[in-house]
Order: sequence, then C-alpha cells, then structure tokens
Amino acid sequence: MNVLVLGSGGREHTFAYQLAKSSRCKNLFVAPGNAGTAAIATNISLSVTDFAAIEQCVLHNAIDMVVVGPEDPLVQGIVDYFAATPGLQKVQIIGPSQKGALLEGSKQRAKEFMMAHNIPTAGYASFTPETLGAGKQFLETLKAPYVLKADGLAAGKGVLIIQDLNEAKDALADMLGGKFGAASNTVVIEEFLDGIELSVFVLTDGKNYKVLPTAKDYKRIGEGDTGLNTGGMGAISPVPFADDALMQKIEQRIVIPTVEGLQKENIDYKGFVFIGLIKVGDDPFVIEYNVRMGDPETEVVLPRIKTDLVAVFEATFKQNLNALDFELDTRAAATVMLVSGGYPEAYEKGEVISGIEDVSGSIVFHAGTAMKDGDVVTSGGRVIAVTSMDEDYKEAIKKSYQNIEKLSFNRMNFRTDIGFDL
Ligand code: AMP
Ligand code: GLY
Repeated sequence: MNVLVLGSGGREHTFAYQLAKSSRCKNLFVAPGNAGTAAIATNISLSVTDFAAIEQCVLHNAIDMVVVGPEDPLVQGIVDYFAATPGLQKVQIIGPSQKGALLEGSKQRAKEFMMAHNIPTAGYASFTPETLGAGKQFLETLKAPYVLKADGLAAGKGVLIIQDLNEAKDALADMLGGKFGAASNTVVIEEFLDGIELSVFVLTDGKNYKVLPTAKDYKRIGEGDTGLNTGGMGAISPVPFADDALMQKIEQRIVIPTVEGLQKENIDYKGFVFIGLIKVGDDPFVIEYNVRMGDPETEVVLPRIKTDLVAVFEATFKQNLNALDFELDTRAAATVMLVSGGYPEAYEKGEVISGIEDVSGSIVFHAGTAMKDGDVVTSGGRVIAVTSMDEDYKEAIKKSYQNIEKLSFNRMNFRTDIGFDL
C-alpha cells in the first residue's frame, strides 16, 4: 500500500514511524512533514486544507490510504470530499466526516451530543451576543471558578478559567464581542469540575471500537504546571491512576455511549476519538472531545501499539475492527518536548539542532524541524519530542532526560518535571 500522512508535527512523525515499520507499507508520504519524516518518507509540500492539492497528490502517487493528523482538514470536511470525489472513494481515509468532526469543531455541539446520549459532563448553558445579559445572570448562579469556552476552534486558547465574577462577566462580553473572532460568536459557560485530568483514546470504525492506551499530557510551559498554556510539553502513558475500575466506568459510561451515539445519529466516523476527562472523586466526566489524536500524546500512545498500523487502519476503514487482533506493549512510555526559547509566545526559527545522532535508547520524534544546508534546524515552537519506554514509567522518564542532555540548540527549553507529579 502507498500511504499518505497529513500534517507536520510530532504526531505525524510518530504515525509515519509506526507505518514505516509495516511490511504492508510500500511507499510512505507525509505532507507537508518535517525533517524527521523526510528521513523515513517522501515529504510533499502542500497545505493540509488544500483539498484539490491533496487530491492531485493522492492520484499522482497512487495513494491507497490517507491518515489525517490535525483537526482543521477534518472540520473542513476532507473525509466528505473524498467520499464525494470519484477516484478518491476507494482511498482508505482515516478520520471522521465533517458532521463527526463537529464534536471538536463546536463546543456547543459536543455538549448537546453528551446531553442527548447521557454522557457525564459538566452542566452548561451557551450564549450569543444577543443573550449577553442572560449569560451574565447565569454566571451569578454559579460558584467560582468560572469556565468560559469559545464555541469554535481557537488554536487551544479558547478556554478561560476565571476566579472573579466581575472579571468573568467582562470576559464573556469580550468573547462575545469577538475576542476569538467567529470562534467566540457563541460561548459555552460550564460548571467547574475539580479533579485530576487524563485522556482516553478510542479508534472507531463507526460500529466497533478499540480503546487505545491512556495518556496524560503536561499543558503548561512552566515547572509545576504553571504559566502559559502550550500544545503540550510532555506526556506519559499509561496514566498510573487509571486503574481497571476507572477504565470500566469510562468504557461503560462514556466510550460505548459515544460510539452508539454516533451510530444513532447516522454519523460516519472512521477515526480517532480523543476524550479529555476529569476524574472527580472516583467518577469520570468528559471535558472535551477531539476528533484526532493528541500531540504529544501520540508520541507515547502509538509506540505502545504492537499491531501493524496499516492493518489497524485497514480494519477501521473496512469496519471490521472487531476482528482485529489488537496487541499492546505492556511497557510505559514517556515523552519530553524540547521547545524554542520564548514559546508559546514569540520565538526564533532556524536554530541548528545538534546531537540527534547521539541519542540511544530513546526515539527522537521531530515536531517543528526542517532541513537547511544539510543541517536539521528548528522551524516551530515545539521542536522535538524524546520518547522512551520501560516497564517502569519513572525509568522511561529518566531515559528521556538522559538523552536530552545530548541534544542542543540555541535557547532550547523543556520542562524538567514531566511525570514527577504521578
Ligand atoms: P478544553 O479545551 O475544553 O479541554 O479545556 C482546556 C482545559 O481547561 C482543560 O484541559 C481543563 O484543564 C480545563 N477545563 C475545561 N473545562 C473544565 C471544567 N468544566 N472544569 C474544570 N476545568 C476545565
Ligand atoms: N495535547 C493536547 C492536544 O493535542 O490537543
């Protein structure tokens, strides 16, 4: 099979790395990719939301399977585009239809879906510029802290958690006034859930599903989970506190109703469901759905899947995931993200990265990297994820930190406390 991975981050390098191991993968392409994917696949320069260019690429390279990494093309309907285009209909594309992708594309839609299918989540109400007054009154009925969410995609920045009631009212007015552009034309206000977060990943073919390994990511830039939010500074899988009892509750109360809900609503969904959860006491509640894998969660989840990834995706597309023999590695995985100095605010690009070839016993997944004059250089905020595996997750973390000592670039930054809270 010829396989195309869409995207350019650590997640996509990890997909490519696992797909390249498959004896069934003949030619592997990544679009647009990074310096890491260039070493194991053919990079193709295109925008992941330029469907016409993707069509050309698929036809020109006789691509049989497309794995969609990020949410934007899904929310913009790439799966529907393939379904509607003669010549692309046989291509095994992995991702939900546009209707399915709305679970991530609209917070309000996600809340309505959860309410309709009795999936535990925080109580909420949503407001538009016309109902700003009612929104402020609703805030008065809640206890602090106040959780305000822009309805649409806002590059991970659309959720505000505010302690003071008056500040929350002002923030609501700002959001409805266009703080996040069209993404905050509607704002969801929800109850604050006090607990510990984890993520569960599910792969569904629309009928059957497999629960993939759990993961916990570290979202903030600073030690002790302080400072600005980032795309994710590191991750651990499995989550040590996700014991059998909790996983049973998650499967029964959340995973099964989610997959059945998609079916009941006739939504075509052949792809990943990334379920963000908060454990309150002993009970799981959904805080968000994403319709793709996480980054850097992929860098710890996928290396723990032993089954041939081409076979996994083929079963997903052909809707026979139930028949797939699905094997997981019992070892834990840890990843630590190296980022550009200044990230998540302004940062320099083009810094030469040294030491990659000296790493041993860990996997270097490239995120924001590019080739320049024969050197691997930085080209994004998140630059490299160093993943390690071991029976003991603490040993895995240690291996990543030992290898990070060999890596360097100007103003390289990383958190030294990934996994230390567990
Ligand atoms: P989201 O984009 O919906 O995942 O929200 C971003 C972050 O805000 C989450 O990872 C949580 O840390 C936090 N969050 C979201 N919703 C809630 C909630 N209802 N209660 C407490 N924290 C929340
Ligand atoms: N690491 C969080 C995400 O991918 O959304």
